[in-house]
Amino acid sequence: MKPIISPSLLSANFRHLGREVESIRTADWLHVDVMDGHFVPNLTYGYPIVETLIQCSTPHPLDIHLMVSNPLDHVENFARCLSPQYGGSVTFHLEACADGDADRCLDALDAFPWVKKGMAIKPATDPEAVLPWLGRLDQVMVMTVEPGRGGQSFLPHRLESIRRLRDLMDHQRPGRHLEVDGGIDVNTIVLCAQAGADVFVAGTAIFKKPDRAAAIAQLRGAVHV
Ligand code: DX5
Ligand code: ZN
Repeated sequence: MKPIISPSLLSANFRHLGREVESIRTADWLHVDVMDGHFVPNLTYGYPIVETLIQCSTPHPLDIHLMVSNPLDHVENFARCLSPQYGGSVTFHLEACADGDADRCLDALDAFPWVKKGMAIKPATDPEAVLPWLGRLDQVMVMTVEPGRGGQSFLPHRLESIRRLRDLMDHQRPGRHLEVDGGIDVNTIVLCAQAGADVFVAGTAIFKKPDRAAAIAQLRGAVHV
């Protein structure tokens, strides 16, 4: 599968949001970390910022990663921000779902056929945990750091989970996205690609570099087949 590079805005310079988004125009998606101060300690952006990003985006499909405690309260509103023209994805955490909520979130997202439906799992969650919903998902995200902040070190024990998930996903229906998020750089991206990931979120490895196009090209080059 063609590798997808999804720069995480969390490491951008917020003084110049428009310019920062412009600087990653050679990437494929734009990763937007929504944190609620409850599911994770940090607080980030809400709907107005996401809508603004769509206006200043080049435009990339927005890859919305919801780190919020009650995803059912939010999935629909974030999906509504995404347009049929540019698409995008809404990914919520399995660990944040009360009984029945994961299905309800997916039901809500079904109303937006142009929005990819994603489920994320934290580093302590087994890949098999997504199995009950796998048939309904367009993509699965394996967190390779503890969610909550950028700049952390990649957790190598997740490589086995990535391999397992790729097997489970392809056994059911090949061609779906397996996304990795956290500590991705020119070295770890290779390991994740070999394990079966095809979507690579990178904050520090792109936005903390002066030349964003070069950083994106380096990451892409590392996994180019
Ligand atoms: C962490 C976020 C990540 C983060 C990745 O909770 O989900 O998207 O921004 O940042 P790096 O690439 O610096 O690990
Ligand atoms: Zn993220």
